[in-house]
Amino acid sequence: MNTSNTTNTIEFTPERLAQAKAVIAQYPAGKQKSALLPLLHILQEQEGWTSPEGMDYVATMLDIQPIEVYEVASFYTMYHLEPVGKHVIEYCRTGPCCLMGGEEVYAHLKQKLGIETGQTTPDSRFTLKEVECLAACGMGPVFQIREKYYTNLTNERVDEIIDELSN
Ligand code: FES
Repeated sequence: MNTSNTTNTIEFTPERLAQAKAVIAQYPAGKQKSALLPLLHILQEQEGWTSPEGMDYVATMLDIQPIEVYEVASFYTMYHLEPVGKHVIEYCRTGPCCLMGGEEVYAHLKQKLGIETGQTTPDSRFTLKEVECLAACGMGPVFQIREKYYTNLTNERVDEIIDELSN
């Protein structure tokens, strides 16, 4: 039983609540914690980030302790634990991408955006995150924005992508 005294200030929309309940129903009674990752995705889709209030709400839904949600959410880089910009650029910092010119391209990317890793541009359009291998090693350097991969990056290609997303 969740004994948290936290007052949840968010709720899923009716559509997302139905989606969450359908996910929970896929697991046997007592194993509802298995629905945690998909529920965090639903939360992030709705709120734009994985807020503490949202995680408490998910904990209540799953009848688990908030700390159980926090420890999972903080393990995976795809959950944004702070507010982010409209486009979250997750660039691969792992060896093969760096060997294929990643360090130079990522330096250019930071210069183009005027921010460092972990920061958001003042207009809230871009957030930059560093992640481990995105499983596209043969096409590096690579970054991901939501479900889309941008591969074989060069400084020129970075300029094109950022200019396109800035309009
Ligand atoms: Fe960059 Fe695998 S090392 S995608």
